[in-house]
Amino acid sequence: MSLTYFKRYQMELDLQTLDIPTSELPGGYRFAAWSEDDLTRHAEIKHISFRNEIDANVFTCFRDVEGCQRLLREISGRSNFLPDATWLLEYDDPTTETTTTVGTIQALVDVHQRGAIQNIGIHPDHRGHGLGTSLLFKCFTYVKARGLSRVMLEVTSQNIGALRLYKRLGFRIIKTVYKPAPIFTY
Ligand SMILES: CC(C)(COP(=O)(O)OP(=O)(O)OC[C@H]1O[C@@H](n2cnc3c(N)ncnc32)[C@H](O)[C@@H]1OP(=O)(O)O)[C@@H](O)C(=O)NCCC(=O)NCCS
Repeated sequence: MSLTYFKRYQMELDLQTLDIPTSELPGGYRFAAWSEDDLTRHAEIKHISFRNEIDANVFTCFRDVEGCQRLLREISGRSNFLPDATWLLEYDDPTTETTTTVGTIQALVDVHQRGAIQNIGIHPDHRGHGLGTSLLFKCFTYVKARGLSRVMLEVTSQNIGALRLYKRLGFRIIKTVYKPAPIFTY
């Protein structure tokens, strides 16, 4: 099997000096706290958010719901899982009178006592309205409440939109790593 290498940035944000704004959401949207019963909903929105993105080439588990379920089980089963900093985002659609899941974020504590954001994903139809920013602020609030002063994440260098968002929030690149991934031929 041939491998390729994706350049990824580890980024960090100091929460001590950050005045975290209250996460305001547009009408119809609301946060849902972590519950094990929602694992499949997290997996489904993770798959929808990532399946057509560069990270589906880096992490093959994003390509199907089962892969996302396995990942969620792995994250939520760890002793360093942060359930308080793990959220779903829901949307009540007034036209169809249905509730859909439109976002997910999960976090762990890493060995350096930082909140480590695992994956943030927003449904493609709901991007660009500040939801990703609100989900990040929601997560930061609970990471800080745990007494952790920093958050970190990893982003693929080609994920220009996400990189711009993180830089806007004050994240800075602290390390560059190369993630091996199989080359798929169709
Ligand atoms: C990254 C992501 C969570 C942002 O969600 P969002 O709700 O659109 O974020 P916001 O509306 O709060 O902020 C939008 C910002 O994100 C940037 N952005 C990120 N991805 C973008 C995309 N696909 N299209 C347009 N803008 C994007 C924009 O630059 C914008 O910044 P600006 O306001 O300075 O112009 C979302 O694009 C997503 O789910 N992407 C796919 C999954 C992914 O790559 N996650 C990050 C892994 S590290």
